[in-house]
Amino acid sequence: LSESKLTGDNFELYCDVVGNPTPEIQWWYSEINRAESFRQLWDGARKRRVSIDTAYGSNAVSMLGVSRLMLDDAGTYECRASNDPRRNDLHQNPATTWIRAQATIRVLQKPSISTSEQSILPVEGDALTLQCNLTTAHGAHQESYWMKNGEEIPETRTPNSNTEYRLNRPRGDDAGVYTCVYTFGMAPPTNATIEVKSAPEITGHKRSENRNEGQQAVLYCKSVGYPHPVWTWRKFDNGIYREIDNSTGRFFINSKDNYTELLISTLDIVSDPGEYHCNATNIIGSREEKSVLRVRSHLAPLWPLLGVLAEIIILVIIIVVYEKRKKPEDVQDGELKTNSTNNHKDKNLRQRNTN
Ligand SMILES: *[C@@H]1O[C@H](CO)[C@@H](O)[C@H](O)[C@H]1NC(C)=O
Ligand SMILES: *[C@@H]1O[C@H](CO)[C@@H](O)[C@H](O)[C@H]1NC(C)=O
Ligand SMILES: *[C@@H]1O[C@H](CO)[C@@H](O)[C@H](O)[C@H]1NC(C)=O
Ligand SMILES: *[C@@H]1O[C@H](CO)[C@@H](O)[C@H](O)[C@H]1NC(C)=O
Ligand SMILES: *[C@@H]1O[C@H](CO)[C@@H](O)[C@H](O)[C@H]1NC(C)=O
Repeated sequence: LSESKLTGDNFELYCDVVGNPTPEIQWWYSEINRAESFRQLWDGARKRRVSIDTAYGSNAVSMLGVSRLMLDDAGTYECRASNDPRRNDLHQNPATTWIRAQATIRVLQKPSISTSEQSILPVEGDALTLQCNLTTAHGAHQESYWMKNGEEIPETRTPNSNTEYRLNRPRGDDAGVYTCVYTFGMAPPTNATIEVKSAPEITGHKRSENRNEGQQAVLYCKSVGYPHPVWTWRKFDNGIYREIDNSTGRFFINSKDNYTELLISTLDIVSDPGEYHCNATNIIGSREEKSVLRVRSHLAPLWPLLGVLAEIIILVIIIVVYEKRKKPEDVQDGELKTNSTNNHKDKNLRQRNTN
């Protein structure tokens, strides 16, 4: 298909030919569409900007690619195919032995856009204004609009060639990649980007997690800010940061752009409880938040019952000990008897005294 392209872009053309025996495919080019001015293209032509990829099977399929387009790449591209045995015979008129299909490629000078500088939040003053001016264009543009992180910002479409986007009191979540896009009637749209950077800010995290031993725990943190941070998790133990010890292979970290997750499987009641810190760091700055993990024994629900059991056991022990204390007293019976005879003597004495 014929196309309009901008300088610096790429294009690809496809040619699919059916025939028996399988036809041969060639690519030809001419600046002007006149039969005798066509010249054959080969893989690697135009300082390797041309690539030709052909596969011969039951039919022949070929792809012509031209990269980093320049203005003089414009013209007519022709796919030629033939399975005539005389196709390369110089005494034959190629017009009768080859069939052909054409596409016309227009190459337009890429418009240029001047933009305001990238910024870092927070900014002085209470607003940040992003600007784009379309300075040169191959023709009149239709309109322009703004995008943030690849999504169109509503109500920013305007027909002006100078356009502004104002961020009032910008905060961490206003950081990102802003793009102004200009559209044209007959040519592809053109864009320019402005980066607004800020230190990460952790906007959500799990403050604490209570689990039973043997279960799994999931801690997470999410952030705003641009560029997306590099996430790390550490454990804070007795006032010292420690790398997470994964010698047991139970720790799994899953980080994606503005979100990170630490999963600990088969919780261990001895080594796992504690403070875990997620750390988000980008080129502008860094932030950290902590999550407290508590691990209960899986006997926890049994504690009341165990308490009663323990009471019973203690009672039994007391009784047994008491009984054991009593028995040795029986052995010392003799002494007791002498005592009692003494008592009798005393009694007798007292009795005598009373007499
Ligand atoms: C865009 O054009 C306006 C008006 O001419 C000018 O004030 C502004 O500085 C320009 N901005 C950029 C980024 O070139
Ligand atoms: C901006 O232009 C480039 C180059 O043409 C293109 O690859 C990209 O998808 C465009 N981005 C947006 C947001 O339109
Ligand atoms: C995180 O980034 C994704 C896209 O990368 C976005 O859709 C989402 O809203 C962001 N979340 C936060 C909390 O900024
Ligand atoms: C911990 O070890 C497991 C198993 O070897 C591995 O799959 C996991 O990625 C490791 N986690 C971290 C944070 O290195
Ligand atoms: C996060 O980790 C980086 C690299 O270890 C460190 O320089 C930075 O101080 C940490 N951030 C916070 C808020 O503690």
